[in-house]
Amino acid sequence: MIERGTNRPPGFQTRAIHHGYEPKKFLGSVAPPIFMTSTYSFEGIADAAAVMAHEREGYLYGRESNPTQALLEARLANLEGAEACVVLASGMGAVGSLMLSLLSQGDEVVVHRTLYSNTYTLSRLALPRFGIKAVPVDLTDPGRLDGALTPRTRLVYFETPVNPTSEVIDIAAVARRAHAGGARVAVDSTFASPCVQRPIEHGADLVLHSLTKYINGHGDLLGGAVLGDAATIEQIRGNGLRYITGATLSPMAAFLVLRGMKTLSLRMRQHAASAAAVAEMLAAHPAVAWVRYPFLAGSREYEVAKKQMSLGSAMMAFGLKSGFAGAAAMMDRLRLVSRAVSLGDAESLIMHPASLTRARQKVYPDTRPAEGVTDDLIRLSVGLEDADDLLDDLAQALAAV
Ligand SMILES: Cc1ncc(COP(=O)(O)O)c(C=O)c1O
Repeated sequence: MIERGTNRPPGFQTRAIHHGYEPKKFLGSVAPPIFMTSTYSFEGIADAAAVMAHEREGYLYGRESNPTQALLEARLANLEGAEACVVLASGMGAVGSLMLSLLSQGDEVVVHRTLYSNTYTLSRLALPRFGIKAVPVDLTDPGRLDGALTPRTRLVYFETPVNPTSEVIDIAAVARRAHAGGARVAVDSTFASPCVQRPIEHGADLVLHSLTKYINGHGDLLGGAVLGDAATIEQIRGNGLRYITGATLSPMAAFLVLRGMKTLSLRMRQHAASAAAVAEMLAAHPAVAWVRYPFLAGSREYEVAKKQMSLGSAMMAFGLKSGFAGAAAMMDRLRLVSRAVSLGDAESLIMHPASLTRARQKVYPDTRPAEGVTDDLIRLSVGLEDADDLLDDLAQALAAV
């Protein structure tokens, strides 16, 4: 029993609502203001110089910083347990700004063999153009990292849970090995959110999020974030954001993310409870060949997930015995679950990466499915609808295959 009136630090939910904001500084406005400005004026040359030298708090130009963004950055850093945060225009803005700020010609980055499709393309096609070598490794077995590290390895980069396979990677085990080899570790924690998993507590150096997903949670904007030590975040802001990608998050989007985050832990609990019910239903269904969900009892994922995730989140992958054709037939019959990319929204979303990739290859012939993404794999983001309605919809669609 916690004693009332002690100096106990506020909990996650309280900080998600209040951290870093004092209404009395803004005419008592309970909701934080949105600073819709692209530039800032100065009293004189000496005043501008003081801001540029960080001797006075102030702002120069909207590509680098803005007060609404600054509040979001302070709140995200607090929730993630990081020293600092930089927010960006999208998750890919975060991935690109991080890679291009921290890696140079001749460097190597070890990546998990399966990544979000566009991060996979970045590692396979874009980084080599700049003389940066991406080395794919199956990090679900952290021991494989040892053979992949070289004196040129600057970074070990992975998602956990992994998009779209829902594999879980042991953050502490990878971080120990990477640090012993002199490399830093960046974890894309988009599938979990800081409510469910905080990679820095397990030894990661940097954390990335697509704010587009659970953190905003309402499917109505794009955003990204990188979190870590203050010096590295300043490097990403000062290089990546300032003159490489320019991927600035708009003040309006920053405000909407702050609003969405107020209910993050409520949403994650509901997402996870419904996802667990769906994963169990799928695992027991005769048409289903396999299911991967971090908190599916008895699975390899669960053994790792329970060390680093407080809930299973709501992303899962599964395959039907009828493979590619079965996936298409099942998905076409769904009535409530939307056939759509993205994830972490109130609406349940389902996608079949193999059929999208095949179609995309007609326009972009160099498109390739990320390693480990099989033809039968279906990715499901369980939303906030009533779980019984979701179970009914999936059951009637599965009855067709
Ligand atoms: C794990 C992961 N990282 C990064 C991204 C990219 O985020 P955004 O779509 O906000 O650019 C996504 C998008 O789906 C993702 O799933």
